[in-house]
Amino acid sequence: MRNFFKDENSGHSDARSGTRQDVPAIELRNIDFAYEDKKNLDDISFKVNNGEIKVILSSSGGGKSTILKLILGLLKPDAGEIFVDGQEITRLDEDELQHVRDNIGMVFQEGALFDSLSVYDNVAYRLNERDVPEEEIEAEVLRLLRFVDLEKEIEKLPSELSGGMQKRVGIARALVGGPKTVLFDEPTAFLDPITCGTICDLIIKLRDVENVACVVVTHEMNVVKHVTSERAVVQESGRVTMENGIEPFSLANTSILMLRHGRVIFDGISHDFAYSDDPYIRNFIHGTEVDPTAKHAVA
Ligand SMILES: Nc1ncnc2c1ncn2[C@@H]1O[C@H](COP(=O)(O)OP(=O)(O)OP(=O)(O)O)[C@@H](O)[C@H]1O
Ligand SMILES: [Mg+2]
Repeated sequence: MRNFFKDENSGHSDARSGTRQDVPAIELRNIDFAYEDKKNLDDISFKVNNGEIKVILSSSGGGKSTILKLILGLLKPDAGEIFVDGQEITRLDEDELQHVRDNIGMVFQEGALFDSLSVYDNVAYRLNERDVPEEEIEAEVLRLLRFVDLEKEIEKLPSELSGGMQKRVGIARALVGGPKTVLFDEPTAFLDPITCGTICDLIIKLRDVENVACVVVTHEMNVVKHVTSERAVVQESGRVTMENGIEPFSLANTSILMLRHGRVIFDGISHDFAYSDDPYIRNFIHGTEVDPTAKHAVA
């Protein structure tokens, strides 16, 4: 089991072991997908490399969660190919897919914690399933809860936690086993700005310190601004500090994919996104979503 939290204060990471830098962590090629007869995704292609964040934006119902389910192999595309760490997954059987999923952490949109299990048991769940020795499980769960700053809540049930704390338990659970890729579906929805900032910082640390490929689905521009303008730096002492104040949308290791009507209308570095003259993108950035059904909707 890969464990990149082994020595969290040393700043040294073993995240690169077994990771081929030249192969994208995730690649979709020409994906079409329809739930019924309406095409929900139309010719979607993009790549996410190790140590990068790809932010996926669309209006509600735009197909973001569907893309994450396709990456996990929970849905099969009607056309196209999906590569996870270089391996094409659309024709794998369930056992083979399980191996692929072992290297992917998923933070679900709805939280998806087990209500009757404590924080500890929620985070330990996948390790228990894999028959990992109890002392290893305990050490891993403690490290992960320290990472999301929830050690004190270890005995609590999800119903005794705030929404933001539940999200952080979901993140700790997604990080079990040291996945190379983590998929975040609306990780900051309905959270206050401070908690939202804490979660963005966790994602940034995964990108910059652990070399994890992160796919972040969101509709919140403050999240986009945060992850494109702040980075985590390992100091000589080994301490990880957050460096902010960089111009928003300026980081090269964070890009944006924007969908509209099931198609990609933008895929690129965030700087180009910020200065796009596409009226739909400009409206999205400035917080006034265009109603596509409106008579004078912008093309
Ligand atoms: N199981 C399903 N069966 C049929 N249609 C579905 C199913 N799941 C999603 N859809 C439809 O597919 C489209 C894309 O859904 P998806 O959940 O991927 O959107 P989303 O971008 O994640 O939306 P949101 O921002 O609201 O979470 C929507 O029109 C939705 O109604
Ligand atoms: Mg969704």
